[in-house]
Amino acid sequence: MSYHDTTRALYREAALEPQSSLCCAPGPAFRLPGLSIPSEMRAMNYGCGTTVHFQDLSPELDVLYLGVGGGLEALQFAYFTRRPRSVIALDPVAEMREKARSNLLLAERSNPWFRAEFVEILDGDALDIPLPVGRVDLVAQNCLFNIFTQGDLDRALREAARVLRPGGRLALSDPICEQEIPERLRSDERLRAACLSGALTLERYVQRIVAAGFGTVEIRARRPYRVLDRRRYGLEQDVLLESLEAVAVHTPVPEDGACVFAGETVIYVGEEDMLDDGRGHVILRDVPLSVCRKTASRLRSLGRGDLIVTPPTWHYAGGGCC
Ligand SMILES: C[S@@+](CC[C@H](N)C(=O)[O-])C[C@H]1O[C@@H](n2cnc3c(N)ncnc32)[C@H](O)[C@@H]1O
Repeated sequence: MSYHDTTRALYREAALEPQSSLCCAPGPAFRLPGLSIPSEMRAMNYGCGTTVHFQDLSPELDVLYLGVGGGLEALQFAYFTRRPRSVIALDPVAEMREKARSNLLLAERSNPWFRAEFVEILDGDALDIPLPVGRVDLVAQNCLFNIFTQGDLDRALREAARVLRPGGRLALSDPICEQEIPERLRSDERLRAACLSGALTLERYVQRIVAAGFGTVEIRARRPYRVLDRRRYGLEQDVLLESLEAVAVHTPVPEDGACVFAGETVIYVGEEDMLDDGRGHVILRDVPLSVCRKTASRLRSLGRGDLIVTPPTWHYAGGGCC
């Protein structure tokens, strides 16, 4: 028996009987014109955050979705691609695949633009993706990678990089945690499978993504997700889990390290119309320029009174320095 058996057993149960405790934090699912999400599918939203970022999506993209769940995000991706098999969704749990298929058939009835054949559901594992090198433009996973041990996480990230074309994107959504989660909880296989105890710190999470060969990482959102209650889990203090949405770009990692965008900007408030930092950044006076963490930290360290470097918003939405 490995922890994968426990994970699969939990999601078998969650396919047969939707489990509200596994569902993401309550909140309105995003709405798009003409997109209707069947209630059966909505009840199986087993992710945290979203991997569907409008700015990355266009009709010609081929998408690979790892861990289909009830099919909610596969449907949302298909909204943008609208071609047969333009979204490939993998899941090793037969009952989950079946449920996603039946939910997508329900979606076909309430969405005139949608055909279930837009989403191809395959029996497969994120650790051993049954696709060739460079097959897809976008890989997405929501609340799967945090379940994996570090060795498996590294393997899943390498697999995602392998099947992505150069310049392709990996959209991730997972819990992170800046506090220490005791080993007793980390090694509790059911808790881990339920996305409650495998979370890494943000820094470590990003480090693993970069180690798999992603040269740019964009932090798209970070917000409170769950609490491990000290009484219920026998902890000294409550432990806050946050949900992190990130998009990693499959480009070579620069020699001086990856470009990680977290919403920091630099603003030049000096006497000239602009400042050229000699490293490829032209900063117009009074106009915030998005910069990656490396650049933000270098510019902060200059200690110049005519440069303001704003703190991370953790909601980076494009534009930038690298
Ligand atoms: C937490 S759920 C997330 C489902 C979906 N992504 C969502 O946001 O609703 C994890 C999903 O990954 C599937 N899964 C478990 N182990 C997997 C693996 N090794 N490779 C791919 N999918 C896996 C589960 O069956 C389940 O559908």
